[in-house]
Amino acid sequence: MNSSAYKAWLNYFPIEDRQKKKAYSDILGQTIAADKRSVVMETAVKELQHGIQALLGIDACIMERPEDGGRVQLAVYSEEEGPGEWKQGKEGYTLRYRQESGYGAIMVTGGSDAGILYGVFHLLRLVGAGEPLEELNVNESPRNDLRMINQWDNADGTIERGYAGRSIFYRNGGITSELQRIRDYARLLASAGLNAISINNVNVHALETRFITEELLPSIALFADAFREYGITLFLSVNFAAPLQLGDLPTADPLDSDVQSWWKETADRIYRFIPDFGGFVVKADSEHRPGPFAYGRDHADGANMLADALASHGGIVIWRCFVYDCMQDWRDRKTDRARAAYDHFKPLDGRFRRNVLLQIKNGPMDFQVREPVSPLFGAMKQTNQILEFQITQEYTGQQRHLCYLVPQWKQVLDFDTHAEGSGTEVKRIVDGSLYGMTFSGIAAVSNIGDEESWTGHILAQANLYGYGRLIWNPDLTAEEIGVEWTIATFGNDPEVVTGIGRMLMLSWPIYEGYTAPLGVGWMVAPNHHYGPDVDGYEYSRWGTYHFADRDGIGVNRTQTSGTGYTSQYAEPNAALYDSLKTCPDELLLFFHHVPYTHKLQSGKTVIQHIYDIHFWGAEEADRLQQQWAGLSSKIDEARFAPIAERLAVQAEHARNWRDIINTYFYRKSGISDVEGRVIY
Ligand code: GCU
Repeated sequence: MNSSAYKAWLNYFPIEDRQKKKAYSDILGQTIAADKRSVVMETAVKELQHGIQALLGIDACIMERPEDGGRVQLAVYSEEEGPGEWKQGKEGYTLRYRQESGYGAIMVTGGSDAGILYGVFHLLRLVGAGEPLEELNVNESPRNDLRMINQWDNADGTIERGYAGRSIFYRNGGITSELQRIRDYARLLASAGLNAISINNVNVHALETRFITEELLPSIALFADAFREYGITLFLSVNFAAPLQLGDLPTADPLDSDVQSWWKETADRIYRFIPDFGGFVVKADSEHRPGPFAYGRDHADGANMLADALASHGGIVIWRCFVYDCMQDWRDRKTDRARAAYDHFKPLDGRFRRNVLLQIKNGPMDFQVREPVSPLFGAMKQTNQILEFQITQEYTGQQRHLCYLVPQWKQVLDFDTHAEGSGTEVKRIVDGSLYGMTFSGIAAVSNIGDEESWTGHILAQANLYGYGRLIWNPDLTAEEIGVEWTIATFGNDPEVVTGIGRMLMLSWPIYEGYTAPLGVGWMVAPNHHYGPDVDGYEYSRWGTYHFADRDGIGVNRTQTSGTGYTSQYAEPNAALYDSLKTCPDELLLFFHHVPYTHKLQSGKTVIQHIYDIHFWGAEEADRLQQQWAGLSSKIDEARFAPIAERLAVQAEHARNWRDIINTYFYRKSGISDVEGRVIY
């Protein structure tokens, strides 16, 4: 696989400008001197050689003795031995230009071999973008320690919520031995700055429960080897009931001493095969997955038991907070799914071991196109936390629609929780700095499969790349990341860069425009979650309702007359959401039930907004197609055509969304569109 789609953002287009090519070649095209050789350093050197060859057509040679100089020098500094100004931390790096006698040189200095690898990818990105190297002076270090990707891959080869083919890890119940694709994936992840991966679905079924056995660990260890080459640590999702289900014990009670020993032995076994194993990801007592509740224990009991098993090896437990009642009666107006994570976990603050992290979804529901930020961020001051995003577009068009999610994630990270007064944004909580957490970071559900393009929709590659870049540095803007990705993926023709940049930046508002309005969420077809079905979840057990009747719509989550969910936020956010006067329009129906004639802050009525935004969204989806068509001469056919096809599907489908949503609300409310457009 060598296509432009496969290479994604590592396309490294040959530099055509002769002057630039000469300037780069003078520095990069000669000798590379590298420090001590570890697997990761080998990778860094290999990547640098490969990049230089692709960009400049030169085979740079490697010097075995770095002290002899070299035009590009890769050197590791530890904090103790490094120069006084070294502040980059273990995974950080610096890139510096140095004028030697008669020639220019580049120093890539890292806090570790992984730091060097990130530095090499950065250097190649700059060259690919045509940036000058003289005066190069880059200092980088990741803001988040754990930068993780979660695969929801199953051993049968399917991927839960996967939209880009089948698993690259498993086939027909077996673990793949085709490691090249795994290595290529590791390469993509590392080049975007990621350093951890869990390789199986959080819903751990029978086969995957066995991944921790003597029989299957040798194959799992091969994955760990492939990821290790790129500085990526491997984690496994485990089944809480494994001691029972593997037939070894009559119980999985976390306070039972046999169960505790069983997990200790299991951890010892795993570390025999994978000495740098990261730890466990656990979905327990959530959507029918087993957990401590069956034994009258709580989440802290469960997580701590696993944490104790891993502790002596330096492993961690990532315990998910996606816990709610998925057997709710729709007639019950008191239970509010949005409250659930906070209600379950907040009382446990302070009870978790140091090597437990709670993994919290960005919103209180489930990766909708628009949700408020989970109130758990900032509510647990003595608990390590990791934020969970979803890159795979389960509710955002399933990679048939274009939806660049970086702007959404950016809003989440910038959200001010006010947990310690103003300026206590989510990004400061999840990077561990606010509460001095021992472990912290961000995870996200992957959007890749075995399709040639990795992501199905080629433009969805921007979400994987953008995720990595944003969590490395949450202060980057979504636009900057979009531009960087476009250049690395399609080259730096200014028309392409602005054109694609505009498409990316508008795509989330467009998608939101023609789907569920004003933060109410859902309205999708049950189970597969693709396409409009306004009442699809209205009378179901999932706790996902909009309560539309002939007079109005929305969920009353206020303190006085609603579910009280707003009180889970710190002030002034609680009051802001609680009041109809101050609640932001885009979340109005998440927090309030209002008549269709209610006036938004924008001055429009709710019903007129619904009509307008749906007409706008569908029109803009159409325009995306035209914008793409305008770039036809500038994009290789192999990528142009499949993207054009998806955009056509999207435009058609957006019209469907528009008409179904508009018609539904027109029929419910009986209120006409003031513009008199066609509603059925
Ligand atoms: C969503 C998704 C499920 C997934 C779950 C989770 O509900 O639809 O497929 O298992 O999230 O995050 O655990």
